[in-house]
Amino acid sequence: MNNVAIIGAQWGDEGKGKVVDLYSANAKYIVRYQGGNNAGHTLVVNGKKTVLHLIPSGVLHPGRICLIANGVVFDPHVFFEEIESLQANNVLSAPAPEIIRVSERAHVILTYHRLLDKLREEFAAKGKIGTTVRGIGPAYEDKVARRGIQVVDLLHPDLLFKKLQTALEEKNVLLKHYFKCEPIEVGPLFEECLRLGQRLKPYVSDVRGILVDAMKQKSPILFEGAQGTLLDVDHGTYPYVTSSNTIAGGAATGTGIGLNRISQVIGISKAYTTRVGTGPFPTELEQTEPATAERIRQVGAEFGATTGRPRRVGWLDLVALKYAVQVNGLTGLAFMKADVLQDFEQIKVCTAYRLGTATIHEIPSCVEDLENVEPAYEVLPGWEAYDPTKVKNVSDLPNNLQQYMKRIESYLGIPIVLMSTGPGREETLMISNPFQTT
Ligand code: GDP
Ligand code: IMO
Ligand code: MG
Repeated sequence: MNNVAIIGAQWGDEGKGKVVDLYSANAKYIVRYQGGNNAGHTLVVNGKKTVLHLIPSGVLHPGRICLIANGVVFDPHVFFEEIESLQANNVLSAPAPEIIRVSERAHVILTYHRLLDKLREEFAAKGKIGTTVRGIGPAYEDKVARRGIQVVDLLHPDLLFKKLQTALEEKNVLLKHYFKCEPIEVGPLFEECLRLGQRLKPYVSDVRGILVDAMKQKSPILFEGAQGTLLDVDHGTYPYVTSSNTIAGGAATGTGIGLNRISQVIGISKAYTTRVGTGPFPTELEQTEPATAERIRQVGAEFGATTGRPRRVGWLDLVALKYAVQVNGLTGLAFMKADVLQDFEQIKVCTAYRLGTATIHEIPSCVEDLENVEPAYEVLPGWEAYDPTKVKNVSDLPNNLQQYMKRIESYLGIPIVLMSTGPGREETLMISNPFQTT
């Protein structure tokens, strides 16, 4: 049995939630290891939609253990809201603390992180990131600056008080004198943290230890990435990125397992590209083909699962996707939402960039260069409308769609291992099962 990582291969919202839900049938443990509730992962099971922001997308499968590991920035309020909503919908197979665990080492998102995220975006005249305003960036900043509050601190009142006091000294100078707003008092925040800590107690665990035991027992583990490769803080389109390592390496640092413990890394990609928030997007269609962009947005329901913002839309960018194959060591691709492109006369796919007079096949490191590249497209014939419910094998797909998939495989040098034909769990062609390959 393999351990498998699911990684967004584009700018997020590729359909990771759907694939994680599906693959959870093969896993015992499902782990979120980076990001926080900036994620919005959509699952559609028996026609019912569930959107998860923090709890792993395996939670709808009875008997699975869902873990939130050290690399996540953890908002306790969102966590409890999500559990309450799952309980109200009667979908939890056991009492929540038996099937959901949170790492002692995860960093906590506090009021001042959410506030600073909002103020920074409001104050940025130019260069807004277009964050989800969930406090993700400020919480990671505190972690790296060694002044963060970890989940375990919520259970140690004296230590917690000292840490909050120290953190607030600096935060309040910033809030009062730079952002000209009210400072935050330590007393009420301390009381709130203590209450949250007590409520959280049954969930708090040594998640790394749980994973070590799981590996000893050869229980399959599924690592659920959030965001996407091009939003990675080191390897993405910096500074228009999120604040964590979204690439496969993040699964090791974000959980504390060894690098050699993940044998299959599956990248998730749509048949086209989307992006939410600001930042370079070479194949974006808003300016060049606005009607096509609008059509894809409407048919694909491309509106953010977390913030509801319309997603920016573009043709598939194979240069960016090949980069994702490299930085993640992808072993296979899950190919999503090709149903959205049906009945187009032509489909374009970007196979190179033009930068000035040069033709390049890599993502330039300088963000200004990336803003200036022009996509070089290959034009492929579109495919006729088809009924996805009648598709049982890849060979049942329209011929031109099969050709499109072959072109992608040959450019990337990895196989498509899953083809999604609609949002529902059952609307899927499982071409090969990554848990069962050797
Ligand atoms: P994630 O963040 O990567 O989990 O993706 P999101 O949930 O934010 O966005 C993906 C959207 O596409 C969701 O609304 C899914 O229900 C939907 N979806 C997933 N796969 C397919 C597919 O193959 N076809 C269609 N039409 N929709 C899909
Ligand atoms: P899932 O897991 C798409 C984007 C934001 C913004 C940038 C930084 O659903 O794919 P942040 O709040 O993280 O500081 O925002 O990252 N972003 C996402 N875009 N899908 C996501 O998650 C995202 N999470 C963050 O729009 O551009
Ligand atoms: Mg999403």
